[in-house]
Amino acid sequence: AETATHYMPERIDLESLRTAVGGCRACDLHRHATQPVFGEGSRDARIVLVGEQPGDREDLEGRPFVGSAGKLLDDALKRAGIRRNDVYLTNVVKHFKFTEATTSRGKRRLHQKPNAREVYACRPWLEAELALVQPVAILCLGATSSQALFGRDFQVSKHRGEIRATDWCERTMATWHPAAILRMPDDARKAQMHQQLIDDLRRINHPPP
Ligand code: URA
Ligand code: SF4
Repeated sequence: AETATHYMPERIDLESLRTAVGGCRACDLHRHATQPVFGEGSRDARIVLVGEQPGDREDLEGRPFVGSAGKLLDDALKRAGIRRNDVYLTNVVKHFKFTEATTSRGKRRLHQKPNAREVYACRPWLEAELALVQPVAILCLGATSSQALFGRDFQVSKHRGEIRATDWCERTMATWHPAAILRMPDDARKAQMHQQLIDDLRRINHPPP
């Protein structure tokens, strides 16, 4: 199957990658999306946060984590004492995948989970970002990014908060996806997950001595 490797620029830096993602046709997701959403942040960032894929707002704005999940993440970062500018934020899949649905609130684009083929096709972009930034720590948000880095059988609910070595970083951790926290119907559980996200951010930022 085709992957994004085919679309890599000759000279790899964050700007040339960002430009090249605009020409990626390695899967069909580029057809309906408004634009790709590449990672955001400095190549000197110590921590990389990896989400799943852009949502509706991200697709329209061309930036990661600017919608409701992004607001929750911003709040958690602040409470963990981390500035958004100090992390590199990205997603495993760079184009928004959705279905259109007509609801009582009008026509809406509903997020769809990327499939294994799309994740496989897109992951060279993420790998290139990780190779450039060489973070001290990686925090995977949710199942898609956790499984992309830890393997297909990884379960966030079982191994959340554990720090392990991966091919990309000595300190790699999985935690809840902010969107999963937003969707949680049980208020007590939701508050617990929110606190765990903050604690995980704090711990990945400040390794114990
Ligand atoms: N959810 C993600 O996984 N990534 C984003 O950029 C926004 C929402
Ligand atoms: Fe390329 Fe990824 Fe977009 Fe698919 S989702 S077209 S692999 S950038």
